[in-house]
Amino acid sequence: MSYVRVCSLNELGEDSPKRVELGGGLAISIVRTAGEVFAINDICSHANVSLSEGEVEDCRIECWLHGSAFDLRTGKPSGLPATRPVPVYPVKIEGDDVLVSVTQES
Ligand code: FES
Repeated sequence: MSYVRVCSLNELGEDSPKRVELGGGLAISIVRTAGEVFAINDICSHANVSLSEGEVEDCRIECWLHGSAFDLRTGKPSGLPATRPVPVYPVKIEGDDVLVSVTQES
């Protein structure tokens, strides 16, 4: 699994998602909450809305447009209108660097 550096740890505020563009049209939201860092695809599975503009609570990120909240560990929505999960990605912390793997192979 190959990891890419997406930001430094001290750029991440608690419960304050950071949108990172990785090229190829892929944008992810990096979320620091409850002592952990998560990476989730930044686009809501219901419509083309940036999840990083939503609020974080109870290890979920809420879509600001219609209110579906996505589990930061699994990507699954907690309720309608979204029905499909959003991809989540493994995160590694090395020193002050936040690394994310967006490749599928293990
Ligand atoms: S656009 Fe996200 S729940 Fe509708």
